[in-house]
Amino acid sequence: MSFRRKPLSTLLAQASDHSGLKRTLTAKGLVALGIGAIIGAGLFVRTAAASAEAAGPAVVVSFIVAAIGCAFAGLCYAEFAAMIPIAGSAYTYSYVTMGEFVAWVIGWSLVLEYALGATTVAIAWSEYLNNLFNGAIPYQWCHSFLQTSPEGVRGIVNGPALLVLVLITLVLIKGIQESAIVNAIIVTVKVAIVIAFIAIGWAFINPAFHTPFTIPASTPGHEGLFQHGWGGVLGGASIVFFAFIGFDAVSTAAQETRNPARDMPRGIMGSLAICTVLYVLFGYVITGVGRWQEFLTVGKEASVAFAISHHMPGYGWLATLVTVAILFGFTSVILVMLLGQSRVFFSMANDGLLPRVFSDLHPSFRTPYKCNMILFLFVGVLAATLPGDITGDLTSIGTLFAFVLVCIGVIIMRRKQPNAHRPFRTPFVPLFPILGAVWCFAMIIALNHRSQLVAFMWMLGGLVIYFSYSRRHSKLNRDEVEAVPAPAIR
Ligand code: ALA
Repeated sequence: MSFRRKPLSTLLAQASDHSGLKRTLTAKGLVALGIGAIIGAGLFVRTAAASAEAAGPAVVVSFIVAAIGCAFAGLCYAEFAAMIPIAGSAYTYSYVTMGEFVAWVIGWSLVLEYALGATTVAIAWSEYLNNLFNGAIPYQWCHSFLQTSPEGVRGIVNGPALLVLVLITLVLIKGIQESAIVNAIIVTVKVAIVIAFIAIGWAFINPAFHTPFTIPASTPGHEGLFQHGWGGVLGGASIVFFAFIGFDAVSTAAQETRNPARDMPRGIMGSLAICTVLYVLFGYVITGVGRWQEFLTVGKEASVAFAISHHMPGYGWLATLVTVAILFGFTSVILVMLLGQSRVFFSMANDGLLPRVFSDLHPSFRTPYKCNMILFLFVGVLAATLPGDITGDLTSIGTLFAFVLVCIGVIIMRRKQPNAHRPFRTPFVPLFPILGAVWCFAMIIALNHRSQLVAFMWMLGGLVIYFSYSRRHSKLNRDEVEAVPAPAIR
């Protein structure tokens, strides 16, 4: 095990190297990047699931609980991102603060966040596409072989999920400039449709659906601690937490930001704040338009379209429009997730912890194209073969775990390097980071045991790779870090 740390001065020298990534993003661009990553399957799929499985109408409080955990972690991310404006996110911060071993653990959990996050949303994309075509795609070609339809048809492979991943990989290979423009258009459409649903749906809210506010303990199937009452609100928070994943992806673009010191905190907290307001309103409307019990049965799939078409007479067109917008919205989430993942792999390969192929750049596009292609193989196989609920929970655990470690990292860094230049300081240290770590850990506890076990196995696999490959190939072994500037990349 190695606790050797990468020197902060080396990192900053790499960040200011002019042959590095192009600095084109502003605070506005970062907020767009954040919202592009944030609003997706979490809002349109997990909101109804959280209310049906755990929180009932109190899912609005679940959103606030999850947002508070994210805000604490977000403030810690902002301090690091402004201080260490270099590609790689939590992985890079921990390399400086807690050493190589913890950095590896975080980088490995980030694969759960970004790669499995992209996988989950690609699977949801496939479901909504099929919904748009009124179920015209044969069940076996848009479902995992682990799924069986109510009529007994078994899935074979999830074709649409594979298709959307191929298309987005091609966009990423071409370069971030084009990706950012596409992303901005999609973000506008996505926010507009969420606001439209809230504004139009408001008139159809049935106040009776909001009472009782939490699920009563006596409800059959809701006996678990995190499935009813206020425990259910925490359970709901860990389910809707998926809807917030992505705001931290903003920090992975620090090296491409014009003024990271000022724009990073604005980008991270701004996108988080906007999404929280939209989510709470959205949660209030959807649980008022449809009864939460319906989302367990008839309204389980494509719940938003269900709520509109069954409870908002005359608005069938809105259901179609929302479905189309959701498809666009999911596309931008997948894009930012895959972008974040390739940047993390890029940094890890640059440090020698992964093979060099992950940091090879395309001769003319200057993108890590080989990394993008390998990543596609990985997420493609998972998206084609696994159901979305498994990949969704794993995404949440990996992300929450990274958040916990980043919060702890802020405290350690303040002690170890109290005089380092901090353009943005997390307020109330150590209180806020401690609250962030405890809050996020509580959400991990509230997730189901199966996912906790699989995540644990994933981490064990990561340890095997670290000790058999990465530790020996690390550039810190060879004292090369000082000499290696960040390569040119787009
Ligand atoms: N926050 C992203 C989503 O909800 C991951 O799809």
